[in-house]
Amino acid sequence: MRHLLRPTDFTREEIGELIETAQDIQAHPEKYAHVADGKKLATCFYEPSTRTRLSFESAMIRLGGSVLGFASADSSSASKGESVADTVRVVGVYADIIAMRHPKEGAPMAAADKSPVPIINAGDGGHQHPTQTLTDLLTIRSEKGRLSDLTIGLCGDLKFGRTVHSLITALIRYENIRFILISPDELRVPDFVRYDVLEKNGIPFEEVDDLEAAMPKLDILYMTRVQRERFFNEADYIRLKDRYILDRNKMKLAPEDMIVMHPLPRVNEISVEVDDDPRAMYFRQAEYGVYIRMALIMKLLGLEAPKC
Ligand code: NCD
Repeated sequence: MRHLLRPTDFTREEIGELIETAQDIQAHPEKYAHVADGKKLATCFYEPSTRTRLSFESAMIRLGGSVLGFASADSSSASKGESVADTVRVVGVYADIIAMRHPKEGAPMAAADKSPVPIINAGDGGHQHPTQTLTDLLTIRSEKGRLSDLTIGLCGDLKFGRTVHSLITALIRYENIRFILISPDELRVPDFVRYDVLEKNGIPFEEVDDLEAAMPKLDILYMTRVQRERFFNEADYIRLKDRYILDRNKMKLAPEDMIVMHPLPRVNEISVEVDDDPRAMYFRQAEYGVYIRMALIMKLLGLEAPKC
């Protein structure tokens, strides 16, 4: 039985296959309408979510399966003190696969140890978010035509932003990848990313705080929200939250073929005036999330694509 807990749990080849399946699903959705007939997905979400939870549910429904679950810790027995390990032992009897989001780093890994069915990490605290990364890889592959030879600027909260940690970890497996890490000093990538992922593997990266100066060099600009819920004190959040605001003027500094990504939700870091720029990819990115999650559910449940 396979789980998806970390961004490198699948090989590069397996990720290539998931992307191909997702692109086929996007082109021929009707072919996949009954692939998961009779199967059930449980979403166990102990933290707020819109896109991740609903795109998982939409993915399972589009495959012909059904969904059950809870959307907050308050509405589950976690509020009575139940451990995630006990919860998944039971939910794994009710469902064939579980997508879990939890504020504690490592919670989905602890759950996977005891689960009778595949567990998908749908975000664990400020640590990892591997299905957002699959979404991001599909977006990059589809919109840029490649996953190698790219300069990626990641901007905002690189410390607490789990989507950033997972995306960097996944992208270093492709050739000729360079990162420009744009953040205030306080929000730089954590050591496990800087040392264990970037330096250990000899990946070229620079840490800067000037977004404008970085713009002309980028193939991709990945904006992120300052993660208010992970701050120890509100004053720091308020001081840092509007440090970067991407607007029409800054977009003039970017190459014609740069794309702007964001895992969403956005707060102030991308002005709405950028939404109409053809380089703005973040809403399309959210749509890609459904196709890749359909491909992921199929893979973890061992469901084959129909031949016709
Ligand atoms: C992200 C997350 O939950 O980490 N959202 C998402 O899943 N698309 C990013 C965020 O909340 O800022």
